[in-house]
Amino acid sequence: MQAAHPIAAAPRRAGPHFMTDSVDDRDATTVQTIASLKDEAEKDLSAAGNADEAVEAWRIKYLGRRGALTSALRSLGALPEDERRSVGAAANQAKSHLEALLAERRSAIAAPASDDRIDVTLPGRRPSRGRLHPSTQINREILAAFNAMGFQTVEGPQVEWERYNFDMLNIPPDHPARDSHDTIWIDSANNKEGTLLRTHTSPMQVRVLEKSKPPVRVVVPGLCYRYEATDATHEWQFHQIEGLAVDRHISFAELKGTLYEFAKRIFGSERKVRFRCDFFPFVEPGVEMAIDCFKCEGGGCRLCNQTGWVEIMGAGMVHPAVLRDAGHDPEVYRGFAFGMGPERIAMLRHGIDDIRHFFANDLRFLTQF
Ligand code: FA5
Repeated sequence: MQAAHPIAAAPRRAGPHFMTDSVDDRDATTVQTIASLKDEAEKDLSAAGNADEAVEAWRIKYLGRRGALTSALRSLGALPEDERRSVGAAANQAKSHLEALLAERRSAIAAPASDDRIDVTLPGRRPSRGRLHPSTQINREILAAFNAMGFQTVEGPQVEWERYNFDMLNIPPDHPARDSHDTIWIDSANNKEGTLLRTHTSPMQVRVLEKSKPPVRVVVPGLCYRYEATDATHEWQFHQIEGLAVDRHISFAELKGTLYEFAKRIFGSERKVRFRCDFFPFVEPGVEMAIDCFKCEGGGCRLCNQTGWVEIMGAGMVHPAVLRDAGHDPEVYRGFAFGMGPERIAMLRHGIDDIRHFFANDLRFLTQF
């Protein structure tokens, strides 16, 4: 059997057990012993990671005064001349290599991890802020215009009785006007009366009149529903804003004056308005109101279908039958009512070409407003 090498035969020392266990058991050449000592030290250092204490323990174990490599160097003197040179060179080279690794690891511990660094010169990240839906924006703007003229905002149910949606608005069951409101009916065995999703906000004219004593001035925003085949100007759900003013001496001149003022507030002070006869069973006379096209100033363009005028709402003087059925004497009280579609008004305002964008929930559309 080959004689144990002086390094391998060195007595066990107290302290880190690495060197004694691993070096003692080797019977390779001394240069190889140094090489494997170096390898194990490297592995040991990677296992220590960046923990300060573990790295210091490692230093003591290998490079300390009684460390494995230091002991190996110390024992060189016992070697024969020719071996001493080669083993000495290997041991010195291993020592400087391990010292370099130690220095590198210590500077890694001292430097903060790059992820933790804060670059104060970077521009801030803009937080993404919510905004109001374009329907909400235009609804609020229109309501504010009427509120400023003394109209109070009230709201009503979207699930409505047939009686309020039609009958009490002078639209009996066989009336042809029902055909223009493709209705979404609610089927319920418990309902003796017809129930539906309101097709317009006009039922609130009746509900408000039933509960109030004139003078009355209200605006009613809210969603309406119609069983429509949708297209660029028709949705199956859309907003309407209803208006109602009832008092003793209200005339058609007040209707015109109020709606003219509204048009100027929403579409600009230069606007002209036009009223033409139209038919709605719950007003008499009934009108359709248009404004001169704000895009071409009345000259004719795509927006106004080359007519110079853009229709914005239906209106009229409250029908005596509606006043009477709601409990008011039509000989004493008179009033006017109007109804408009805010989405259609927003479309005109912003040049939106399809009403279906409003409820498609596409942020590319919504974030433009
Ligand atoms: C009415 O609904 C009447 N209640 C308005 C009224 C009130 C007249 C008071 C007289 C007095 P009309 O069906 O035209 O009328 O609808 C009024 C507005 O609602 C239209 O001008 C339009 O802007 C909007 N509108 C109607 N149907 C749709 C639809 N399918 N999609 C989007 N908007 C619609």
